[in-house]
Amino acid sequence: MSHTNPFTFGALALDKAFTDREDELRGLVADMRNGQDVLLYAPRRYGKSSLVLRAAQKAARDKVLVAYCDLMRTPTKERLAAALARTIHEDIDSELGEAAERASSLFRNLRVKPTMEVETDGTLRFSFQATRRRAAIDDTIEDLLALPGQLAAERKRRVALIFDEFQEILSLDPKYPNLMRAVFQTQPEVGHVYLGSKRHLLDRIFDDANEPFWRSAKRIEIGLIDPAKFGRFIRKRFEATDRGIRDEALTRLLEATLGHPYGTQELAYFVWELVPEGRFAHLVDVENALGQALRSEHSHFSKIWDDAPASQRLVMLALAAEPTGAPYAESYAERFDLPPKPTLQTALEALVKKELVARGGDGEYRIVEPFLADWLVREQERR
Ligand SMILES: Nc1ncnc2c1ncn2[C@@H]1O[C@H](COP(=O)(O)OP(=O)(O)OP(=O)(O)O)[C@@H](O)[C@H]1O
Ligand SMILES: [Mg+2]
Repeated sequence: MSHTNPFTFGALALDKAFTDREDELRGLVADMRNGQDVLLYAPRRYGKSSLVLRAAQKAARDKVLVAYCDLMRTPTKERLAAALARTIHEDIDSELGEAAERASSLFRNLRVKPTMEVETDGTLRFSFQATRRRAAIDDTIEDLLALPGQLAAERKRRVALIFDEFQEILSLDPKYPNLMRAVFQTQPEVGHVYLGSKRHLLDRIFDDANEPFWRSAKRIEIGLIDPAKFGRFIRKRFEATDRGIRDEALTRLLEATLGHPYGTQELAYFVWELVPEGRFAHLVDVENALGQALRSEHSHFSKIWDDAPASQRLVMLALAAEPTGAPYAESYAERFDLPPKPTLQTALEALVKKELVARGGDGEYRIVEPFLADWLVREQERR
């Protein structure tokens, strides 16, 4: 039997593609059941959406009604309203009954009424026309946000309302956190789950005593996946597809990605492609796959390099060669020819803000963009 590549990167990690995160999963499911608000933070591509979706599937089995809205996909207020209408109709008000009838009764009191269209899969799609009076759409969104609370009470069910890429709310309208929080405070049956990757924006919303969301949610942060667990996962996936991977190859693979969820799946994908059925992946396969991964990221990394001022470049090179918990130590600065402290601090903060560098749970600063460290080292050698 021939097999398809068991590794995936880019799409959500569902079912068998998902590994680890047991503790986070258990916690999130409990929070959804309890109506506890949660802020889930992680850098890009660490697996936030995959984790929360898996938690949502589990919570749904416990009768929690789960709605999901990705703010990255709602660049206008009308689109946000449409996305909310859709998930409220489909995921919270999902009772028996004729869908269109249910929807018109559900949305009868909205100030701006949606237009409904039946999609090819039979589900309803909603759209809201822009109105001249901008306050009308704000009122409409406010009423839509109130609906999950009303439905939860009516149906005597818990509801979880998930906002992916929540920081985008600020670019939609800086006043929206106020509007949302006012509504959410009155919905004890609804657990709100906020996901996001831009820490400085999330901090602005959740960490400022003058802001409405201040300390309103339990904070969780997800990190890299434990390389030992990721290793077992990779081995199993090779074996399930009639292939194997040698210990030293697996060690090298995990050393290159440090358990970065996306990066690890990407590299494993390339390695698997190089191994014929019935054979083992060897160290050389991992080196070749890494070369492929670096080539495919080359223009992306070149742009990062070109856009970075000299001080940031020096910090990247230092961290690529050696992650550190003490970036300001004299010996470190000397060895890597780093700029004086104020400049160094600015550069490091800028790299953190760009999400290229992060401080791990162990207190060490390191390059977190997968493969960037390897790329930097190779480029330096080439020059
Ligand atoms: N638990 C997991 N087990 C295995 N692989 C995972 C896991 N979580 C994420 N991944 C890998 O990481 C990739 C990105 O996952 P996901 O889209 O959930 O992350 P994200 O943090 O939501 O990313 P973004 O910031 O782009 O929205 C997936 O395509 C998959 O390859
Ligand atoms: Mg995501």
